[in-house]
This record gives sequence, structure tokens and C-alpha cells, in this order.
Amino acid sequence: MTDYDLLVRQVETLGEEEPWWVPFFANTAALLMETLPDLNWAGFYMLREGRLVLGPFTGKPACIHIPLGKGVCGTAAAGDKVLRVADVHAFPGHIACDSASASELVIPLHRQGRVIGVLDLDSPRGDRFTAADEAGLRRVTETLERMCTTCI
Ligand code: SME
Repeated sequence: MTDYDLLVRQVETLGEEEPWWVPFFANTAALLMETLPDLNWAGFYMLREGRLVLGPFTGKPACIHIPLGKGVCGTAAAGDKVLRVADVHAFPGHIACDSASASELVIPLHRQGRVIGVLDLDSPRGDRFTAADEAGLRRVTETLERMCTTCI
């Protein structure tokens, strides 16, 4: 079981150390990859000029641009909803950046009430993400939103 209290405190520490969002999000991606078992990709897509653009991440090189409404990330961002997908191959329009990915969790990020990007986690294990993971990782994204004063 992941200790989300500890994870949130660690994310807060990263944000206190450096408020510029690039190193803050880069280290958060690395921290998530280190902490959560069975991930093959952890990172961010940020909304730029009406589409998602690849942000800080760890994992294999990934798709750079994702149109809003496309794939798991674009669908989550367009609808401003958390998507916890047990089997990505059953998700219509899933974008396979890494063929190892089997399940995925995408959580939108906000600034001043508007979606500014998403946190994207991929796992090679089907049905990897539980409701408890979703709740814990929502706390992580809320921490990012609160601490990231330079996010745009
Ligand atoms: N699978 C995602 C694309 C991003 S990668 O997983 C890093 C999607 O369908 O949006």
C-alpha cells in the first residue's frame, strides 16, 4: 500500500524548494515513478494553444502532441474528469505511446478553475490503479495546484 500522506509531504517539499513548475513537475514525475510500484510512465501533458503538449516525465519517449478529446489524456482534459482505465486496449482512441502500457490513470490539473494540463500514469499491469490510488493521487495533484505558483 502506498503511503499517500508521505507522498503528499514529499511533493510539498519539492514545491517549497523550487516553485518554477518545470523542475517541480520533473521531480514529481521521478518521485511517482520511484514510489508507485508497477509504473512504466509517469509525467505531465500541459495545455498549450488548444492541445496537450508533452511536459516533464519519466519513461520511454512519448507522443509530443495530443489533441483535446483524443486518447485517455485528451478525453480527461476536454471533459475535466479523472479517467481510471483498467484496460487501455478497451478504451476507444487510446494512444499507445508505449506498447507495454496496460492500464492508465489521468488526473486533470487546474489553475484558477481552468484545466491547464494532466498528470498521466501508465502501468504494464492491467487494472493497476485502485480507488485508493485515485484518491491519493488526487491529493498529489491538489498539492501541485496549490504549490505551483508559476504554472500557466
Ligand atoms: N496513453 C495516452 C497517451 C500518453 S502516453 O500514455 C504517455 C493517451 O491515450 O492519452
